Amino acid sequence: MAEQVYIFDTTLRDGEQVPGCKLNTKEKVGLALKLEALGVDIIEAGFPISSPGDFESVSEIAKLVKNATVCGLTRAVQKDIEVAGEALKHAKRSRIHTGIGTSDFHIKAKFNATREEIIARATQAVKWARNFTDDVEFFAEDAGRTDNEYLARVVEAVIAAGATVVNIPDTTGYCLPHQYGEKMAFLRNNVSNIDKAVLSCHCHNDLGLATANSIAGVIGGARQIECTINGLGERAGNTALEEVVMILKQHASLGFYTGVNATMLNPISREVSDIMRMGVQPNKAIVGANAFSHSSGIHQDGFLKSAETYEIINPEAVGADGSKIVLTARSGRSALAYRFQKLGFQFDRNDIDILYPSFLQVADTKKEVMEEDLQALAKAHAAALVH
Ligand code: KIV
Ligand code: ZN
Repeated sequence: MAEQVYIFDTTLRDGEQVPGCKLNTKEKVGLALKLEALGVDIIEAGFPISSPGDFESVSEIAKLVKNATVCGLTRAVQKDIEVAGEALKHAKRSRIHTGIGTSDFHIKAKFNATREEIIARATQAVKWARNFTDDVEFFAEDAGRTDNEYLARVVEAVIAAGATVVNIPDTTGYCLPHQYGEKMAFLRNNVSNIDKAVLSCHCHNDLGLATANSIAGVIGGARQIECTINGLGERAGNTALEEVVMILKQHASLGFYTGVNATMLNPISREVSDIMRMGVQPNKAIVGANAFSHSSGIHQDGFLKSAETYEIINPEAVGADGSKIVLTARSGRSALAYRFQKLGFQFDRNDIDILYPSFLQVADTKKEVMEEDLQALAKAHAAALVH
């Protein structure tokens, strides 16, 4: 039987940290309600101690969201955890996400501490958080570069202290997919109390591997993915929610499903892009403007014979406008005939053979041949026939 992978959305926390993407409380609440409607399981609403505005946002979201768990981030610091507990107190289901760096880079450079001291601080933080909620997630920051043996000791200790979810962030986006997957499998096989917690993937995209790493993490044993709409997040971003949801759906043989309503993926992508004023690259998987556009003659001809030749996802299934046949100098006769037909012109093969060289002349001067160009070509063709 297929197993559920929980979708932990951090658009409002890791995504909102991006320069220029900051949202006010009203905007954050509006987006949280849309994420709830999308069907995510956990909404990381913010970092309550970071500013009074973010405290207010987390608190308002906690009051309004009913179908998803509302989560607040903290450092492994008592005051942070108390403030998060206060911000989340009205939530129907609340989670505190606390943690500390576990790689030697972090232990030495950030904390000037020892590995044992980090374990003590980690377990103490989890115990503080458990005073406010039974749902405590621990993050081992820079777990991607943390030695697996030590990481397993940290994970075992925080679970014993009461963590119910353990996040294994590849904070710097360094891991290769097989390494990240093996890390999860190592934890599953070497942490004695691992059955008491859910392992979570939190991958950054510095090498473009965030999505691949998250999927490898799930195959390795994780059952939660932390992700953002459009892959927004620190530096090169986080795992894109729309990508992992569709990978698990398209590859059902992996044996996983999520609770996300895929038909809402494109509408919410546009909303996030608009509200955060952060454009989506046209070739972005699932939600980019070109994700369902076909422009070369070979692809267009195949697509027009059967959509499945060049599309693995039906655009309607992800709420996109539909497939597009874009006319460029690389397009062929089938695409030209199709676009004329869409405009109401009934041209036969002979007409298209006559029109095609004129079409190419126009196409060579432009990036894309538009409707008005086709109208002009049709008009010239009709006039030539009369003379
Ligand atoms: O990337 C990271 O390590 C984080 C943690 C705060 C979870 O965002
Ligand atoms: Zn992160």
